[in-house]
Amino acid sequence: MNAIEALKTRRAVREYEKKPVTKAVLEDIVDCGRLAASARNLQPWDFVAVTDPSRLKALAKATGVHGPFIADAAACVLVFCKDTKYYLEDGSAATQNVIVAARAHGLGSCWVAGDKKPYAEEIRKMVGAPEMHKLIALVPVGWPAEHPQPRKRALADVLHWESF
Ligand SMILES: Cc1cc2nc3c(=O)[nH]c(=O)nc-3n(C[C@H](O)[C@H](O)[C@H](O)COP(=O)(O)O)c2cc1C
Repeated sequence: MNAIEALKTRRAVREYEKKPVTKAVLEDIVDCGRLAASARNLQPWDFVAVTDPSRLKALAKATGVHGPFIADAAACVLVFCKDTKYYLEDGSAATQNVIVAARAHGLGSCWVAGDKKPYAEEIRKMVGAPEMHKLIALVPVGWPAEHPQPRKRALADVLHWESF
């Protein structure tokens, strides 16, 4: 799958088959995350790849209504960023890379909110991330068991040539 196809066919997937994802694929997904654009090239990110089922359950529980499906994923990539001026932009770029890379490998994933959520601190402590690190997102990944088609705004609605 080329990049354009991965970008255009990516959708939030919240149901997964009970099938493992190899370590090599998870490494490749995170490799794409760490190569994201970064303000002043600070690359303030760190990633925690969780595959242990009991840890996945604990993450799902901590996120409450936001990410119950994390419990059924093969893995969950936690994206952390040091508290720099552009931590949220950098962390979001890395998160999107992780998600699109997962799609390119045929996997489903979903951005689960981390930054500013009340559970962010609990999850930081749960995985032993240092205090200066903010949880940007949790990205469960797994083989897709659903193919949702949410409504998308048309290109003609959002693209303005020369002026708004
Ligand atoms: C910053 C951000 C936070 C999100 N948080 C959650 C979340 O906590 N739980 C969830 O199920 N989906 C979450 N999503 C996924 C959105 O619900 C999803 O992207 C949106 O409905 C559009 O669907 P699509 O991703 O299939 O295009 C989040 C997406 C973004 C960009």
